[in-house]
Amino acid sequence: MSQEATKHCATDSAQAFRALMEGRRAIRRFTSEPVPEQVIQECLATAVLAPSSCNLQPWSFHVVRSPELLLQLQTVCLNQNAAKAPLIIAVLARPDTWKAACTNVLKYWPEKDVPRSIASFYMSIAPFQYNQGFLGALGLFKRLLIGWTGIKRPVMRGPNSLAEMQLWAVKSSSLAAQSLMLAFQSHGYGTCPMEGFDEKRLRKVLPIPKEAIPIMLLAVGVPGERAVYNPRLRFPIGQCVTWH
Ligand SMILES: Cc1cc2nc3c(=O)[nH]c(=O)nc-3n(C[C@H](O)[C@H](O)[C@H](O)COP(=O)(O)O)c2cc1C
Repeated sequence: MSQEATKHCATDSAQAFRALMEGRRAIRRFTSEPVPEQVIQECLATAVLAPSSCNLQPWSFHVVRSPELLLQLQTVCLNQNAAKAPLIIAVLARPDTWKAACTNVLKYWPEKDVPRSIASFYMSIAPFQYNQGFLGALGLFKRLLIGWTGIKRPVMRGPNSLAEMQLWAVKSSSLAAQSLMLAFQSHGYGTCPMEGFDEKRLRKVLPIPKEAIPIMLLAVGVPGERAVYNPRLRFPIGQCVTWH
């Protein structure tokens, strides 16, 4: 491809991406039209292309289509309009899956042989980094160790507690959640991320492991009438950007 053609292509994809982002709004009213399973599958496969810390992919998804469960989720979501969607996907952050994920990286490595540096990273460095021990005791020890070694040279200072592991998992899972919303948007479906729900009751409706953190319930469907409540509002960009 010529340089000129490459430039055109980049401009086209930048415009297409901008349009996708502009087109996504929080949709609060849906029709009852179901979202085809094929679309859901494709969107989930797109969502997990999101980057994740050390590629440990600390996320999981509960796809809810059953009318009985959807009805129960409406109550869990405080009966807000967005929750009356034909599809709800609970996006979970998984601070507890790092160990299995280290094994999985080696198991699913996309080449015949796992490079030695990769094997050593996932067999010793990553497990040391993410293991916080019983009740976080190892994390405390690592904090002291890092405090000491960090006096002389730059070091990575976390995650070194169970709370930091939760934050660690939430960061990567939020990227997957955003990717999932954009994937549905690209298929012409509307979404609304919801954190307005009762987590305790959610855990009674869905079999969520106790260590998992439900970060968002994503309502998905065909936008109904008056689906968007307000015009878009964003603060002036200068307010949140610092140039150096
Ligand atoms: C983490 C998170 C939680 C949200 N929770 C809710 C919610 O419970 N109910 C709701 O109607 N909208 C919810 N929203 C949607 C926001 O209100 C919405 O994104 C924001 O007002 C900006 O509007 P826009 O997405 O249309 O640009 C949530 C958004 C995020 C990112």
